[in-house]
Amino acid sequence: MGAAAELLAQMNGQGAIPRHVAIIMDGNGRWARERLLPRPVGHREGMKSVRAVVEAAIEAKIEVLSLFAFSQENWQRPAGEVSALMSLLEEYIQKEARELHERGVRVVFLGDLDRLGPVQRRAVDGVMSLTAANRTLVLNLFISYGSRAELVRAARLIAEDVAAGRLAPEQVDEAAISARLFTADCPDPDLLIRTSGEMRISNFLLWQVAYTELVISPVLWPDFGRTELFQAIVDYQSRDRRFGRVSA
Ligand code: FPP
Repeated sequence: MGAAAELLAQMNGQGAIPRHVAIIMDGNGRWARERLLPRPVGHREGMKSVRAVVEAAIEAKIEVLSLFAFSQENWQRPAGEVSALMSLLEEYIQKEARELHERGVRVVFLGDLDRLGPVQRRAVDGVMSLTAANRTLVLNLFISYGSRAELVRAARLIAEDVAAGRLAPEQVDEAAISARLFTADCPDPDLLIRTSGEMRISNFLLWQVAYTELVISPVLWPDFGRTELFQAIVDYQSRDRRFGRVSA
């Protein structure tokens, strides 16, 4: 049995599979630099990891997989890198939409989608409507996303509802905020993985990760695949999740 298959068996025998796994995919640039290659080559290689991890998530019967693909801050990278990332996004949709759909994956893009160019926006909208009824796995792809901006947007929506008399100030509670986030339909992540050894949240799902278990993998994203995902889940299963309470 290979390493991944062994981990899969261990994982299935050992405990609960996380319903929602979120990943900060990091280290594409370093992967390329180590090989004296341009950064976009690292992103292209990272796209292969996206494919591998989506397949592994289906295999593990994860319900929701959230991937941080492009942050609001990433718009400030050099124009060449931004356009390479946008082309990759479009290419990913072109190449993968049909297979994702056949495998029952519901693809959802979350973030400030109005900042996308018309070509990317059409591609994004197309795959979202194509796959909207699928139920095997929800694949959340965060692009042009920042968690603070998401919270500001939620606050604004609440203010509008209060101003219009649809909501009383005393009705503003945690559920009212959660319901106005992009992730309103999803359970909070059980597990957040960050690759490349960085120990930061980087403005990703700040509200939603309140009780999420963190696994920092030293592996650079282009080298992250099925084995590494299963290893992170096995690590997660060894944790004692208390949600602020004491152990049973
Ligand atoms: C972080 O590496 C990665 C990104 C900013 C982009 C993530 C994009 C992909 C994995 C490919 C495309 C994905 C889809 C869904 C189409 P970095 O550039 O910050 O690496 P560094 O920290 O080593 O410089």
